Amino acid sequence: MLTLVDKPLIQYTIEEAKASNLEEIIIITGAGKSAIKNHFKEAYELELLLKEKGKKDMLRLVQEISEFVNYTFAKQAKPLGLGHAVLCAKKLVGDEPFAVFLGDDIIDSKVPAMKQLLGAFKETHSSILAIQRVPKKTAHLYGIIKGEKVGDKLYKVSDLVEKPKKNPPSNLAIIGRYILTPGIFTALERTKPGKGGEIQLTDAIKRLLKTEDVYAYEFEGERFDAGDKTGFIKAKITLALKRPEIKRELKRFLRGLKL
Ligand code: G1P
Repeated sequence: MLTLVDKPLIQYTIEEAKASNLEEIIIITGAGKSAIKNHFKEAYELELLLKEKGKKDMLRLVQEISEFVNYTFAKQAKPLGLGHAVLCAKKLVGDEPFAVFLGDDIIDSKVPAMKQLLGAFKETHSSILAIQRVPKKTAHLYGIIKGEKVGDKLYKVSDLVEKPKKNPPSNLAIIGRYILTPGIFTALERTKPGKGGEIQLTDAIKRLLKTEDVYAYEFEGERFDAGDKTGFIKAKITLALKRPEIKRELKRFLRGLKL
């Protein structure tokens, strides 16, 4: 719920999903995160109030939340890892491919990152992960893939390692956008706790590789890790510089900083 420029972080992910023509959203939160649920619920009442008061700009912002199709909420009672969080949505997802967004990865791109992945998925019909090249010395912060290039931006994955301490198999890092086939749920159920004692999605995808092809797609766009202090500030500045009502004053301020 941290505000990035003028809306909560989660809103950016929801807007990316919407712009990628996804219609059903499942939000998985930890226990005690009712603020997120309230954010979506309260939008309706707020909309009425803003309509009455004729506050058009604010109304538009709020409508971006509520115009969206279907929200369902799932709770991850214990913080047992990303893989476990995805498993919490098993019943709600059912037996079909689905998209996963990690809310703290903010991607600024011309074509929404998930839309790019969906384009590639239409060709592969297999699970597909968003990847980006990172400096090897930062590989320990990511899931890293080993893959063979099979298209312009497409790789066929042969191995994955979650946050390798040394000798990463490549500099291709997983970024928080995935399209997964329902086979991932069986793989997750069989995955033992890994890095940090958590059930890792990367480990389950490695297991999925035994039975299905998995691809990775080098998307176009700038990614910010909003879960990190510096990343959050960088995202804030970059996105604010794109807002017509803010950018002039912000540029003037930034130029004036004696760095
Ligand atoms: C998660 C994934 C990791 C991925 C990263 C991208 O890690 O486990 O494979 O590279 O997101 O942001 P986290 O950053 O949540 O620890």
